[in-house]
Amino acid sequence: MEWRRRHVLGLYDFRPEEIEFVVDTARSMEEVLTRDIKKVPALRGKTVVNLFFEASTRTRTSFEMAGKRLSADVVNFSSSTSSITKGETLLDTARNIEAMKPSVIVIRHAASGAPHFLSRHVSCSIVNAGDGANEHPTQGLLDLYTILKAKGSVAGRKIAIVGDILHSRVVRSDLHSLGKMGAKLWLCGPATLLPREMGRTGATLTCDIREAVKDADVVIMLRIQLERQKTAYFPSLREYSRMYGLNRSVFSLAKEDAVIMHPGPINRGIELSDDLADCGNSLVLRQVESGVAVRMAILYLLAGGSHAAH
Ligand code: CP
Repeated sequence: MEWRRRHVLGLYDFRPEEIEFVVDTARSMEEVLTRDIKKVPALRGKTVVNLFFEASTRTRTSFEMAGKRLSADVVNFSSSTSSITKGETLLDTARNIEAMKPSVIVIRHAASGAPHFLSRHVSCSIVNAGDGANEHPTQGLLDLYTILKAKGSVAGRKIAIVGDILHSRVVRSDLHSLGKMGAKLWLCGPATLLPREMGRTGATLTCDIREAVKDADVVIMLRIQLERQKTAYFPSLREYSRMYGLNRSVFSLAKEDAVIMHPGPINRGIELSDDLADCGNSLVLRQVESGVAVRMAILYLLAGGSHAAH
């Protein structure tokens, strides 16, 4: 397949063969990461700018690591120490960064659609690293990649996604990455955090965590996003945890070899018990590991890397 995309704004318009192409490219990148010298010259002379307007540990660090593993120059921009604090707009900020000739801008922003907006105004590639509650496409791809590595396939597998569905950009990208690969998706949360229109995606909706987890191959737990909640969606965190937290008793309903995933950061003891977060069935840190390979693949494909990477 020939890669034709200039931007990665979301997975909504990705065709299954494009998703498979990213996965195949990530496999090549992962091979690089097993070498003693974990670096290839594929993006030498290219510059990647990480433009993060929201906090991040995993995404920002792994994009930086991914760019450096490919020999790109990586520049990290932090909104809190930038001229945004003096009133500069997003567009002016991006245009000024573009004037310094980067190949790729990776952006995380609280506003849904911010990456799409920039893609219409700058000439370099834009990667969405999370926009509001819209999408987090590289998380969707790394979740797929992690499941493929652990299970060998996703088609026909029951994957339960539990938690704050309403505010989650991860779920909106997972629906595309896992759904287009044929997973049987179940979305679960309190009725107030489970938009009924999500049923139109083909996913099964339930407010009963036991029904969602029963016979699941994969259970993806989501963080309660208190920072995006403008009203009370449930009586208390304690009650939420009792009803929608994953503990040993609920997880015992899943298949014996089921795995647990979480995009991070984990609210330990709320959506996921401490022992499950760190148990042998947990893929949480393998998701982070996959993130570097998947983000290397995306940067490589967008920045026109040569096959010297392989
Ligand atoms: N999964 C994820 O987006 O984590 P960060 O917010 O730490 O980047």
